[in-house]
Amino acid sequence: MAIVVKSSEEIDKIRKSSRIVAEVLEAMKQYVKPGVSTGKLDAVAEEIIRSHGATPSFKNYHGYPASICASVDDCVIHGIPSEKQILKEGQIISIDVGACLDGFHGDAARTYAVGEISDLARKMIEAAEASFWAGMEYAKEGNHLHEISGAIEKKAKSYGCSVIRDFVGHGVGALLHEDPAIPNYKPVGRGPKLTAGMTLAIEPMLAAGDWAVDVLEDGWTTVSRDGSLTSHYENSILITPTGYEILTML
Ligand code: MF3
Ligand code: CO
Repeated sequence: MAIVVKSSEEIDKIRKSSRIVAEVLEAMKQYVKPGVSTGKLDAVAEEIIRSHGATPSFKNYHGYPASICASVDDCVIHGIPSEKQILKEGQIISIDVGACLDGFHGDAARTYAVGEISDLARKMIEAAEASFWAGMEYAKEGNHLHEISGAIEKKAKSYGCSVIRDFVGHGVGALLHEDPAIPNYKPVGRGPKLTAGMTLAIEPMLAAGDWAVDVLEDGWTTVSRDGSLTSHYENSILITPTGYEILTML
């Protein structure tokens, strides 16, 4: 599938769904604390999404059973929320949210601290966010996609983190996952040229140890093979003639 360049009407729709995602991520700040279940976080997120007349993009996506991914500590992505999973002081949790309104998706993730956390955990959160912003320095019409990838990798490594290689960012729009695939490491070649109107979900996924991951028996939960701490930070963005617009921030 070719990369879809969006019309201004389509971009407006992605802006609206992305704003709902941003609102959910903002609300999660107050809910993430010791003692809360990830199932409760999922219920709150779904409620906010539906209150806007939108639908949770992830629910039933290839059979995924929830509205958010709730990925704790060594779980890097696709953790399935549960009433039985209770957050504990010192953990870190990535919450990934997608919303679909009027046929267009927005997709973003943040990693949150549960109460007081270790310096290493703090560093992991900061590294994922800083890697995203390092990539943004190259997000501009006329640049090439892999410049973003390379900048993310360089920043992640400057924190001593490794970059997950088995999962990537992606185009976002009428589909949750569109072309192009957006690795968080520099692949061979420059990749496609960036054009104004491309909408991309850029999502560094990092590990404190090695980058190898395992997918558990549920077919979703993805953990670092060495059990090391992981972090994730994602925004849906629009490429513009002069740079970019972040769609999933309030
Ligand atoms: N942000 C993740 C991604 O873009 C969320 C997908 S979870 C799924 O890959 F359940 F929808 F697959
Ligand atoms: Co995504």
